[in-house]
Order: sequence, then C-alpha cells, then structure tokens
Amino acid sequence: MKKKFLSLILGAAMTASMMVAPAMAAEAPIDLTGVDVENATVGISIYQFSDNFMTLYRTELVRYLTELGFKEENIQVQDGKNDQAEQTNQINNFITAGVDVMILNLVQSSSAPQVTDMCNEAGIPVVYINRQPDEAESDRWEADGIKATYVGADARQSGTYQGELILETANGGDINGDGKVSYIMVQGDPENVDAQYRTEFSVKALTDAGVEVEELLLQRGDWDQAKGQQIVQDALTQFGEQIEVVFCNNDAMALGALQAIQAAGRVVNEDIYLVGVDALTEALQDTIDGTYTGTVFNDHISQAQTAVEMAVNYLKGEEVAPINMVDYVKVTSENAADVLETLQ
Ligand code: GAL
Repeated sequence: MKKKFLSLILGAAMTASMMVAPAMAAEAPIDLTGVDVENATVGISIYQFSDNFMTLYRTELVRYLTELGFKEENIQVQDGKNDQAEQTNQINNFITAGVDVMILNLVQSSSAPQVTDMCNEAGIPVVYINRQPDEAESDRWEADGIKATYVGADARQSGTYQGELILETANGGDINGDGKVSYIMVQGDPENVDAQYRTEFSVKALTDAGVEVEELLLQRGDWDQAKGQQIVQDALTQFGEQIEVVFCNNDAMALGALQAIQAAGRVVNEDIYLVGVDALTEALQDTIDGTYTGTVFNDHISQAQTAVEMAVNYLKGEEVAPINMVDYVKVTSENAADVLETLQ
C-alpha cells in the first residue's frame, strides 16, 4: 500500500527507465499461493543496527513481512555489530534453527562466497541486500543454479545525481569563480561499492560536463554522523574558504558536516554546497529550508519490499534473477517536500 502511494507521488520525478524498475513491477498484490505464511521462518541480519538508513530499511522489512501475514515470532532480526565473525555466527545459528529463508545485509560483501556456500549446503535460499557482492559471485549463483540473489540500487546512479545537484546550482559549484570546483569528499566504508561508486561518479558527473575539479581531501567517515562532523570541522580549519563543495556518501555524514559548516559560520547554498544520499527526514527538511543543497532518495521502502518479494518467490519454489535493482530519485528543494510527505 505504502509503496503504491510513494510511486504515485514520485511519478513526476521519475525517468522513463524508472518505470520498469522492480519497484513498479511489484505493484500487483503479491501472490502467496503455496507459501505457508503462518509457519514460514525468516532470518535477517543487518550489518549494524546503529546505521540510520539500515534502521529504516529493517523496520520496513519487518513491517512488510507482517503485513503479508508472516508471524512476528517467526522473524528473527540480528545486529551484525559491524563484525563479520559475529554475523557469520548468527548465520550459523539460523542454519541450525532451520530457517526457511534468509535476508542478509553482510558486514563484508567479500564474505558472500563463504556465506552463500554455507546456506546453499543447508538448502536455505538467501536474499542479500544493500551491500552488493562482486560480479563473479552473482555470476556463480546463476551459472550453478544457487538460490542466492541481490536486491539493491546502482550506486553509480546516486553518485551521478549528486554531481548533477552541484552542476544545477547557480554557479555550477564554482563559488569563487576561479574556473574550478574545489571539493572535499567524505566517504562511507570504502569496502562498500556504494562508497566507491558514489565517490567516483559524483565527481565524474562534473568532469563529464567539462568542469575542472580539485580534490582537497578524501577521507572515510564510515557512514557515521559524528565522524562526518569531525572530518568536515578539521577540513574547514585546514582549507577554509577554498572548500566550495562538500560531497558526502550519505546523509548521516552530511548532517554531521552541516553541524561543522554552521559552527564555522559558513552558509550552505551561499558560500558552500553540501550534498548527501539517502533522503533521511532531517536532510529533506534541511533541503526544504535551503540549508542543504540536495540529496538522493535511496528507496528503502521499495528495496525492502522487493527483498521480501524475492524471499517469497524462493518460498514458492520459483526462479529468482541474480540481481534486482531499484532506482534512486534525485531530491532538490523542488521535490523534497513531496518525498518527505510520502515517508511520514
Ligand atoms: C548505503 C546507505 C548508507 C549506509 C550504507 C550501509 O546504501 O546510503 O547510509 O546505510 O548503505 O551499507
């Protein structure tokens, strides 16, 4: 229900390619024929509960499963605590308990081959979410008929949208008019393709448009608000007015950056630009208020619902494609209020 409403509201912001996204394809009420929803058991492990975005995501996973009739007592949700050994333990416990299907947000996507083999040997299908295993791994699932799939969003798209948000400002990011855009990059966990691609493609959007860029600093903030704040506070001390753009791989770090920017007496959209990804409520409100240049909606609702639908397809004994992508949506002051409304 919620997804349908969201898609309607966002319709205006959608590109033609988005109309064929799995989110839209999954609009039809889902067919649960052959699934024993009363008794089906689901094991979910999230890489880290304290992650703001993954908290929204896991809440929607559980909400949607229960909406479909799964029993809350049959859904186990574990905190991987950002520790792969701990998470692998949890997965082993799910195997011992004999869950019917798992939904896994790996701490390290490089563990996918090992985890997939463990689950495959136990005959338990796996839906990976948010942290994409590499291509060789998903190719292997398909070639060997392994019941594993990935649901996520193409981080190249979110990076490109971030770059476009800067290009679309009055001076295209060149606030001091020196012919180049000087930026700092606050990166998520660099093991993650989301962090790698957003870092690369945000800048690529500028250089593809023929804009000269200067990277003053690139530092990892591990998706964390407090780290984002510290990095940007230090960078502002070191580089001062030289910084024209602050790119953050997610909103949590950008919200930390905003605190540092304001404490330094700088004004977003006047003497510095700031972009994030996720569309956290606070970032949307700041975009509406003009204290944030823009963000990119990382559609946790469509991703969570698609992940559940893939899990259901496994329970029905159906074939599942190895990769299922949901589109991002670029968010400016023009559509931020609409996005915010749909999320409340
Ligand atoms: C990204 C998201 C980040 C963080 C990360 C965790 O997609 O933008 O905020 O949640 O996933 O892997």
